[in-house]
Amino acid sequence: MQDLRNSLAEEQPRINSSLQLALRELPPGARPVAEHVLAAGGKRLRPFLTLLCGRALGCRDSGLYLLGAAVEMLHAATLLHDDILDNSRLRRGKPAAHTVFDPSTVILAGDAMLAKALLMVSAHGDPRLTACISEAVMRTAEGEILEFGQLRKASLSHEEYLDMITGKTAWMLRASCELGALRAEADEDLVRAAASFGLELGIAFQIVDDALDFSPPASGKEEAGTGKPRGGDLREGKLTPPLLFYLSSLPASEASGFMERFAADLLSEAEMDSVCATVHDRGFALKARDLAGAHLERAKAALRAFPPTPERDLLEKMTVYIQQRDQ
Ligand code: IPE
Ligand code: IPE
Ligand code: MG
Ligand code: MG
Repeated sequence: MQDLRNSLAEEQPRINSSLQLALRELPPGARPVAEHVLAAGGKRLRPFLTLLCGRALGCRDSGLYLLGAAVEMLHAATLLHDDILDNSRLRRGKPAAHTVFDPSTVILAGDAMLAKALLMVSAHGDPRLTACISEAVMRTAEGEILEFGQLRKASLSHEEYLDMITGKTAWMLRASCELGALRAEADEDLVRAAASFGLELGIAFQIVDDALDFSPPASGKEEAGTGKPRGGDLREGKLTPPLLFYLSSLPASEASGFMERFAADLLSEAEMDSVCATVHDRGFALKARDLAGAHLERAKAALRAFPPTPERDLLEKMTVYIQQRDQ
């Protein structure tokens, strides 16, 4: 695992300098907003996946960095929009952009970044790349819309949850991987394998993210290692697996009282804090994290189509990283 972390750390400066170049080409009004979210940090997992998938399938050229930067630019744009939609005040351990800049400017800066990302991908001159990234943008929006339809609902089936997270999160990871494979001019079955790896990894990534939402804050901080507020999902009215496990542990009368307050947005801060602590302390977050396992197994199975290379080994380690991640 340490080699995965080292490789990610080694690649970050080049990914960041490609991003810097792209930043300079944004309209001046969008630049400070884009700089705010990009300079705040972030793991840069999506561009890293583009690099690894491209190299694992034989691509050696630096065009992969441009593609990776496009993917991160797009991801950052979705974060700007997402924090407005979720009314979330913290991102990457810093104040969310819409709390620093005028929200209208942030929405439009997000649009400019999204368009810039599409331009960067289309500059490769391969319509398959442009189709791949455009479809991911569309699916991401669809997932976010599905989630809005589910807010503060009294029940959510596992299928509905999977459909929603596949859209809002997994499609972007899928595209990150598929773009690398397409740029490598890999055979169709390998492109499909890369897409399937990314999609399953992405589903697992969001399941773990939803478990991390209940992590206790680091001492002296209001957020966990994720740089996002603790209990954000509960506050936003999202019924995620850790909360569902908690609910099914309650006596029926208590569960229905809680659901009524949850549905009507009447939970007090103190109650939400106490539920977060219970979800964590009684192992419901850990139990929810286990749901990622089956998807990570499928991701690993997809990788078996790849030729054996050091990059394939790193991609396989990425599945372990996702299962164990704490930020
Ligand atoms: C956050 O993604 C948005 C989700 C899909 C959960 P990341 O956890 O990859 O965020 P950064 O890029 O590292 O900040
Ligand atoms: C993030 O979803 C998905 C996108 C950014 C499209 P969430 O709203 O669950 O992620 P966080 O918790 O804000 O990172
Ligand atoms: Mg959010
Ligand atoms: Mg959201």
